[in-house]
Amino acid sequence: DMMREIVGLSVLEKQIREKLKVRNVIIVPGNSDEYEWVKQEMGKACVAYLQQIVKDHSVIAVTGGTTMAAIAEVMSPLNNDNDCLFVPARGGVGEEAENQASRIVSEMAKKANGEYRLLYVPDPISESAYHTLINEPMIKEILGQITNSNIVIHGIGDAKTMAKRRKTSEETMKKLEMHHAASEAFGYYFDDHGNIVHKVRTVGLQLEDLASIEHVIAVAGGKSKAEAIESYFKQGKSDLLITDEAAAKQILRG
Ligand code: BG6
Repeated sequence: DMMREIVGLSVLEKQIREKLKVRNVIIVPGNSDEYEWVKQEMGKACVAYLQQIVKDHSVIAVTGGTTMAAIAEVMSPLNNDNDCLFVPARGGVGEEAENQASRIVSEMAKKANGEYRLLYVPDPISESAYHTLINEPMIKEILGQITNSNIVIHGIGDAKTMAKRRKTSEETMKKLEMHHAASEAFGYYFDDHGNIVHKVRTVGLQLEDLASIEHVIAVAGGKSKAEAIESYFKQGKSDLLITDEAAAKQILRG
């Protein structure tokens, strides 16, 4: 529409599509590092997109984070007669309650007139507890729903910011630094070339599951996330990036 042409956002979208080699890009005006409402604008773009792609009984897996929380804030009924199901993409990855995927899916489901399921796993989890848990029938059932989801919505974080926020151990911090971790998504940390340099052990979606999921939507903005977004998309299979103008311009500068 006219407004988008005036600020040149559709030109930016094309440039980002080409630079990151991502199929589809939506850019909203502003910088979400500075203003909280910019996250909500990305959220509204995400909800509008969901309304186009959602089908009866779609299963929508969602990660944690403040961007996902902003999407939940602006969620509205999705245009489908039959309920869709919201599930957390992965078990706990060290987020505060407010930003946890389980809280976020419950709010999304309520506002979208959908349903939700929770995934109860301690965080962090030991190797042996992990193997016991994934064989529990109730956990197995929801894990099956998660890996067979039709739509995934996820955040992308700056590696250092996320590691600090998760109160990561000194040892892991050193490992991340040594390997030049730049981005984080789904509990995986990536370097500038998109190589995995560390992974938080938890249940739920694994990176390789994304390849068979129809719609994978990344939502991340703010000038400070430019490097992280670029790093993630070096390997990322996500087919839509919803971002903001400040991140987009910084990516093109870099
Ligand atoms: C986390 C997700 O909860 O949020 C991460 O698990 C993501 O994958 C992060 O990187 C992004 O957080 P925010 O607050 O920047 O949206």
